[in-house]
Amino acid sequence: MKISVIGAGYVGLVTAACLAKLGNDVVLIDIDEDKLEAIHNNRVSPTYEEGLNELLSQVHIQVSTDYEKISPSDIIFICVGTPSDKSGSIFLEHITEATTQIAEALKRKLDYCVVAVKSTVAPGTTEEVVIPILATSGRKAGNDFGVCMCPEFLREGKAIHDFMNPARVIIGEYDSKSGDMLYKLYQSFNAPILRTNLRTAEMIKLASNAFLATKISFINEVGNICKQLGIDTYEVAKGMGFDERIGSKFLNAGIGFGGSCLPKDLKMLIAKAKETGYEPTILEGVLNLNEAQALKLVESLKKHVPLKDAVIGLLGLAFKPGTDDVRDSRAIKIVEVLLQEGAVVKAYDPLAVKNFGKLFPQIEYVTKEEVLNSDAILIVTEWEEFNHLHYKGKIVIDGRRVAKAREARIYEGVCW
Ligand SMILES: NC(=O)c1ccc[n+]([C@@H]2O[C@H](COP(=O)([O-])OP(=O)(O)OC[C@H]3O[C@@H](n4cnc5c(N)ncnc54)[C@H](O)[C@@H]3O)[C@@H](O)[C@H]2O)c1
Repeated sequence: MKISVIGAGYVGLVTAACLAKLGNDVVLIDIDEDKLEAIHNNRVSPTYEEGLNELLSQVHIQVSTDYEKISPSDIIFICVGTPSDKSGSIFLEHITEATTQIAEALKRKLDYCVVAVKSTVAPGTTEEVVIPILATSGRKAGNDFGVCMCPEFLREGKAIHDFMNPARVIIGEYDSKSGDMLYKLYQSFNAPILRTNLRTAEMIKLASNAFLATKISFINEVGNICKQLGIDTYEVAKGMGFDERIGSKFLNAGIGFGGSCLPKDLKMLIAKAKETGYEPTILEGVLNLNEAQALKLVESLKKHVPLKDAVIGLLGLAFKPGTDDVRDSRAIKIVEVLLQEGAVVKAYDPLAVKNFGKLFPQIEYVTKEEVLNSDAILIVTEWEEFNHLHYKGKIVIDGRRVAKAREARIYEGVCW
């Protein structure tokens, strides 16, 4: 099929590369010329994603800033960012700008195509924002073009695997003709396909991420209680996980969740609920606990080392292992507090130093061995390589349960 992907970020680039690999004719549009140039000239992803450079070297993708290039498409996927604003509500400017450009191109497009929103948006956005903008083309939804909302569930670091092997495909459709087009694209995937209306698809994405966030905050709360009682949280989680109604995943207590999705999507759902007049007490609790959890690491540290002028070493800056993404990483909150309290911060991460350096140019980025020479060490991201360091004689406060770190002279875990 002829596919256009709007937005060459984590989701858009993976979507474009995977769909090209599956034999589709793919055009990738972004407003960031540098990003497109890197993809075009070097076939290299501007962001780190396991296997993506290799995949890009195998496929042909046409990249452009020119929306006219989308004209021959059967499907146009919108994959631009949807950050949240201060109130937690979705910031729609990228969606509205991209959709306006698509509407311009639709004016000159004679054959039927489907515009599919892949970006995560609040329930109602496709109907209330995207479709009215597309209608400014003078074309009619259902007749001249179709509309779908097809949320993406891939995990950064495992994005190619997840795109190619989805647990489910959700097709929110304006009408069955729109959904049929996406069904044609996804029918060869070995995954259940659920066809719904547009706002149900939007809600499935937000509810899924809110549930995962809840599971993490839940086990962190259990962990905080276990620590007070001298009980090993991880043994408790193991015992719980055997019950298939609970499941063993997402039960790793620690300093909480970050990244570009869980915090933002949770805030988006909370804001949407409040707009309707409903107080989402569970979801607010999940978010509040998560905000406080990262700082527990610093609280534990203060019991062992006065922070003023102390050299504190951070192991890990990415929001999770396997990515260079630092959006909403717990490391941000931790470094902010350490600097406020007068500590000197040294940090190491195998992939995320460049991105973190843009936020905190004032801290020192060093090797992991140099981090070990600090007055105390904080483990913030559970990179596998941290399980092979020598911690003997050190003070380590662990936010991620790295087994080897237990050999430290002083060792304390955030929930254990
Ligand atoms: N990152 C993830 O793991 C993930 C997973 C599932 C869903 N999502 C959702 O997918 C969406 C995209 O996320 P991301 O992490 O890929 O974002 P990103 O910020 O990495 O990428 C967004 C891209 O869109 C481009 N862009 C912005 N405005 C544009 C415009 N008018 N026209 C063309 N391009 C434009 C930006 O330059 C950028 O390259 C978000 O809604 C996000 O919530 C993300």
